Amino acid sequence: MRLIIRKDYDAVSEWSANYVARRVLAARGRFVLGLPTGSSPIGMYERLATLYARGALSFRDVVTFNMDEYVGLPEDHPQSYHSFMRDNLFSKVDIPAANTNILNGNAADLDAECARYERSIKDSGGIDLFIGGVGEDGHIAFNEPGSSLSSRTRVKTLTRETRSVNSRFFGGDSAAVPATALTVGVGTIMDAREVLILVSGANKARALRHAIEEGVNHLWTFSCLQLHPRVVVVCDERATDELKVGTVRYFNEIEALNFDNAID
Ligand code: GLP
Repeated sequence: MRLIIRKDYDAVSEWSANYVARRVLAARGRFVLGLPTGSSPIGMYERLATLYARGALSFRDVVTFNMDEYVGLPEDHPQSYHSFMRDNLFSKVDIPAANTNILNGNAADLDAECARYERSIKDSGGIDLFIGGVGEDGHIAFNEPGSSLSSRTRVKTLTRETRSVNSRFFGGDSAAVPATALTVGVGTIMDAREVLILVSGANKARALRHAIEEGVNHLWTFSCLQLHPRVVVVCDERATDELKVGTVRYFNEIEALNFDNAID
């Protein structure tokens, strides 16, 4: 696992956008991305859109699969992940609508929808790079504490903590946050050829410590990525608040020897 520590949110966004852009450019054709929502990736999406506007990057051959979607929220609800992706990325770049995939949280048969999603990921050749954020309780996608580490796409009940954290997008009202969501499983993420996780802020410090310094544990699903052969975690300095000084120094020293990630 690589741990890249950058000064702040903007530096994390810039580093990750450049990393994703390099991967897309290097593919010279079809590239399958797994995508997150939330505040963590907004800055990265902004920079990817800027790279597109400057003519440095195209999404014509990019196929996307989003991680999760709330159950029962109309697709055009401002807080649906469909709206989030349209507003923050899809409407700003040249990705063909047919190449974008998001779980349908309003499907009549939710289990069938999850099985269909797993099949279409497989049919697309699998995910080349799965990008994610992390919840304060260490969840990846909506794989809440206690999720099976081999789970596949399914319906999940959201914890009180997640609904309370996400209530900031619903006028501060936890009860307005849907109680369930469709989410790819930990196993679905583990199948990706590469994983990139963005972690910003002191409120994520505990989750980062569990993922980096503690063992693999289903109570912190983020930690399962220790078993993945190709993971990059990009965090800001505040997110390292609970790491040991020696851990931070260790990863900084390794990264000082690593390649420069600038796109231009
Ligand atoms: C939600 C999403 C996750 C996301 C997490 C953190 O619960 N399902 O995919 O990583 O929140 O969100 P944020 O980036 O806003 O802190």
